Amino acid sequence: MKNKPIGIFDSGVGGLTVAKAILELLPNESVIYIGDTARIPYGTRGRDVITSFATELVEFLLKKDVKYLVAACNTISATCLEEIQKLSPVPILGVIKPAAKEAIKTTKSGKIGVIGTRATIGSKIYEKELKILSPDVEVTTKACPMFVPIAEEALGRHEIAKTMAYEYLTEFKDSGIDTLILGCTHYPLLREVIQEAVGNEITLIDSASPTARLLNEELEKNNLFNERSAERKFYVTDAPERVYQIADVFLGKHVVPTLEKVTL
Ligand code: DGL
Repeated sequence: MKNKPIGIFDSGVGGLTVAKAILELLPNESVIYIGDTARIPYGTRGRDVITSFATELVEFLLKKDVKYLVAACNTISATCLEEIQKLSPVPILGVIKPAAKEAIKTTKSGKIGVIGTRATIGSKIYEKELKILSPDVEVTTKACPMFVPIAEEALGRHEIAKTMAYEYLTEFKDSGIDTLILGCTHYPLLREVIQEAVGNEITLIDSASPTARLLNEELEKNNLFNERSAERKFYVTDAPERVYQIADVFLGKHVVPTLEKVTL
């Protein structure tokens, strides 16, 4: 069991921000990543559609005989984590709880902002999880749907990203929040413009490192660390050549060895 790979899935390339944190913290682990680039975005869709797409991603990775799964997508984690956990014989970690925990550790004012896709914000999952951890916390949320296509086009530092960041986020600037959760795994690609729009007094939290740390703890607790050589496989459901070109923006030095197109 312990030598099997970890499966990571997202609607597209955004989950690579989580994959990067996992590869950095757990370099000896084998990883299989799938991004559903044929059907992105998920965040503008309804619950039933997101659930059926996420189910197919889980089934794909289960066929690859994984030992652990990571839903590297806030939208999936917000809308159907329990449903997909029920159908999976291996555990599935979501990204919401780790990010919420990190934000509660970080805030001093007890006022936290959350940005994400329409589906994530509409689910009110962050309010729920943050208040479970700290009942008096004040949470302000905002959907920022344009950030996903900007990140997918690798335009995170472009003028268009800056314009949209100011459009969406200026309201956070003097709102009293001291912590902002980037509640979408694509948003770290726009980290610099987001920081500029909200000001340096606000600490940005993303799901990547907290989720990687939680995975590390789980593998350690269950004695599941890989003892063989690590392998990496990356799959997408469309446009592998385009993803190959932009993958290093997300993964940095963790070069994608092969990128295969699959049909779910
Ligand atoms: N990366 C996904 C998330 O974390 C969102 C992208 C999409 O809309 O599909 O929510």
